[in-house]
Amino acid sequence: MNINQMNLGRSVFGSPENRGNVISNEEAFLLLHDWVSNPKLIIHMQQVGHLMRMYAKEMGYSEETQHMWFLAGLLHDADWDKWPETHCKKIIEELESRNLDPEIIHAIASHGPKYFGVNPETEMDKMLYAFDELSGLTHAYSLMRPEGYQGMEVKGVKKRLKDKTFAAQVSREDIADACQRAEMELDDLIQFVINHQIHAV
Ligand SMILES: [Fe+2]
Ligand SMILES: [Fe+2]
Repeated sequence: MNINQMNLGRSVFGSPENRGNVISNEEAFLLLHDWVSNPKLIIHMQQVGHLMRMYAKEMGYSEETQHMWFLAGLLHDADWDKWPETHCKKIIEELESRNLDPEIIHAIASHGPKYFGVNPETEMDKMLYAFDELSGLTHAYSLMRPEGYQGMEVKGVKKRLKDKTFAAQVSREDIADACQRAEMELDDLIQFVINHQIHAV
């Protein structure tokens, strides 16, 4: 993967006049299933969407805002299956053409700052970046535990994080960077993922 090729080369996404514009769950899932056939990727996006929604809910945000957070999580990797070389340019352009709220598009554009060249700025941006890789590692861990997520502990996840051969594609560097940017303790973030991901799919 050529990192330079993935750089989006811009920092403004969507249009301010589209503030508050969303698509329905149905429309989002239609897009998802139209573009993504890899079942593992679908699970990943559903999990991140769920974590985002639950985080916004715990923060006491409105149903509308929770839905926006959900959409950012659900669609953040929608173009990864078909167009990995230019991830996440394609999904950004698609959501811009559907006049989606710019905050959702910015969150998607900043979910990998070192690849896309866009810094996470808002709370939504930062939490999407923070959940992305950690969600994947925690899920991989659940698959190797006979009891799945039941009884999973923070220290178990941290042990897998330290073992670089476990879910080796998960960037430990990104997780540490994301925690720092979100100003969250890693333990709290892991606990949140454990608590909620069990209910994700
Ligand atoms: Fe991604
Ligand atoms: Fe992702």
